[in-house]
Amino acid sequence: MKNFVIAIDGPAGSGKSTVAKIVAKKLNFLYVDTGAMYRALTLKAMKEKITFQDEKRLIEMAKNTKIDLIYENENYKVYLDGKDVSDEIRTEQVSKNTSYIASILKIREILWEMQRKYREKYHLVMEGRDIGSKVFPDAQLKIYLDASTEERAKRRYLQLKEMGIEQDFEEIKKGIEQRDEKDKNREIAPLVRGNDYFYIDTTNLTIDQVVEKIISLFKEKIH
Ligand code: DC
Repeated sequence: MKNFVIAIDGPAGSGKSTVAKIVAKKLNFLYVDTGAMYRALTLKAMKEKITFQDEKRLIEMAKNTKIDLIYENENYKVYLDGKDVSDEIRTEQVSKNTSYIASILKIREILWEMQRKYREKYHLVMEGRDIGSKVFPDAQLKIYLDASTEERAKRRYLQLKEMGIEQDFEEIKKGIEQRDEKDKNREIAPLVRGNDYFYIDTTNLTIDQVVEKIISLFKEKIH
């Protein structure tokens, strides 16, 4: 029997991270944030001053990178080649540049492989854009979370503020719209909602309501 995968896909700010972490905790599953992996590679490319057009170097870089997602003192930490970059990967600049990294097939394949490895040992709650479509097409439960653009921008704004990062609301909203456009329209592994997904619009739902919905879907699946 393959380990159980709850795939949570959806656009930025739809509540994936918040909800996925709580669901994972409640079920004692491993939580994996795949966006953090794309962000970490983007940060590394920026630090090494590799231009985003230089696919060859970017792929080489990705092959020689170690990314660890670690649950530490109640916090999810992202380590890039052994260094904690949990906060650094959340800046608007990294968010913007991630679309370059995310559109390179070879890089996605490297990350897919890392992502699939987690299932060998753990039941997973994995979030991203292509978890149910590409990483685990055979995931036992696929959830698509969505919310209005305004609401998603508001959430991102508050999330950044909590981290001590102050950013203009309109800028964030514009950034989200541009990212949606890129995520949904890119050629390689675009964000799509297949028929096998449960669609949840979280705009007017509380976090608890979304969590409860997913847990009840999970219970239905295992009975
Ligand atoms: O979920 P996030 O905002 O941290 O994701 C950052 C970027 O990475 C986003 O522009 C889409 C991309 N991404 C992706 O292409 N595939 C994934 N599985 C996760 C994220």
